Amino acid sequence: MSDLFQRSTRALDAFLPASSRKRTIPITFARVGAERSELSALTSAERTFLKSSEFGFARGEIALLPDEKGDVARVVAGIGKAEKNALETLSGGDLFAVCALANRLPDGDYHIDAELTEPTLAATAWALSSYRFDAYRNEAPGKSARLRLDKLADRPTAEALAQSIFLGRDLINTPANDLGPEELEQAARALADTFDASCEVTIGDALLDKNFPLIHAVGRASTRPPRLIDFSWGEPDHPKVTLVGKGVVFDTGGLNIKPGNSMMLMKKDMGGAAATLATARLIMETGLPVRLRVLIPAVENAVAGNAFRPGDVLPSHAGITVEIGNTDAEGRLVLADALSLADGDEPDLVISLATLTGSARVALGPDLPAFYATSDDVAAAMEKSAHDVHDPFWRMPFWDGYEGTLKSPVADVCHISTGPFAGSITAALFLRRFVKHAATYAHLDMYGWTPSAKPGRPAGGEAQCARAIHAYLSERYGRGASR
Ligand code: BES
Ligand code: MN
Ligand code: ZN
Repeated sequence: MSDLFQRSTRALDAFLPASSRKRTIPITFARVGAERSELSALTSAERTFLKSSEFGFARGEIALLPDEKGDVARVVAGIGKAEKNALETLSGGDLFAVCALANRLPDGDYHIDAELTEPTLAATAWALSSYRFDAYRNEAPGKSARLRLDKLADRPTAEALAQSIFLGRDLINTPANDLGPEELEQAARALADTFDASCEVTIGDALLDKNFPLIHAVGRASTRPPRLIDFSWGEPDHPKVTLVGKGVVFDTGGLNIKPGNSMMLMKKDMGGAAATLATARLIMETGLPVRLRVLIPAVENAVAGNAFRPGDVLPSHAGITVEIGNTDAEGRLVLADALSLADGDEPDLVISLATLTGSARVALGPDLPAFYATSDDVAAAMEKSAHDVHDPFWRMPFWDGYEGTLKSPVADVCHISTGPFAGSITAALFLRRFVKHAATYAHLDMYGWTPSAKPGRPAGGEAQCARAIHAYLSERYGRGASR
């Protein structure tokens, strides 16, 4: 399984250096209604071809223009409706979307025929679109189109961004038969080792000895023992940032078993852990001056005679007793124990990432993680970073008024609400109870999956929020995000 980690650390073949002498095919971007002057790099035959083939310059539309031998001489890519022609005017999501072309062009070497406002973001979009998950295919992987980097692009950052996201995607895409709690641990250890982070893992019954009863209860019915992965990196006197990722390698729902359709994609229920590892990798690779701690409860929510049950009352790491309302709400249980451990250090910032509720998807769909934060200032800055790097999420409230729905007749708290409403909010409120000493607590309820391909996001696993969090931390603690 450390193969998985190796795979994503191999050299990225999406880029040629800016200094490369290789002949590269120009990509000309043009808007709807492009004027003749804006297409001045094209020959008159090329312009005529665009016209006669009714090329519309819509966003995503591509024309391959041949030379007299029939080789591709130029690519024209539409940018849709824009005020001025030029890529110079595009930034953020618009720039990201039009530059995510690697998977849409034939094998070859290209360059973008324009000055870019955010060359690193453009390069990142290109690289992210080149991802393929071919670990289980017998056919040889195809080659991908390569981009000659803009001379102002920050190649190491673009590569770190792409490789970190690839690690997250690979972890999510790997099926649960090959990725159990142990393999997730191995991936985390491989990452920790690469950056000389110290790593400690508590496994199986040792979870009871060390007082992580909820992680143990959720994971104990699996033949693959549950564990808590805990690694730390960076100078101890730097500001403490702790990431907590839900690592449910497969979610059957437990005794409250999921129907077949709902279970189909549940290999991705470790998407929070995958996004956490992707974020951690980015933080370490770009050397942000923070004291990073990563906590991943890695469990399989399985069905067996020793499984935890609805109605059980369980102790927790924090000492709060929890009544189990539904064994399918397992994510918040394993996170609760990890969050109260995180809270003990009184960090500057604790962020949890989790494929936590179906309700968040009903509210916001697959592309927009639901975002919660105890500080309005931190929330605003995080939303801005998310928007800037086109890795969006949307804020929802920790609505105190719904706390009452978590009342239990027998225990300190019930982990699910009694009613059908506000499922993502009540899950977030449950988690917040376990964070008391961190300066700020932020929580992301994500999907971890792209159902159908979008620019820079091939269908399948997605380490949502990793680039956004890294950009935010770079603004707050580092030298600013590189775009
Ligand atoms: N992993 C699921 C949440 C999920 C389901 C995320 C589908 C993305 C897509 C989580 O463990 C779960 O089953 N949550 C339940 C909670 C309910 C029982 C209170 C849910 O959302 O239905
Ligand atoms: Mn579940
Ligand atoms: Zn789950």
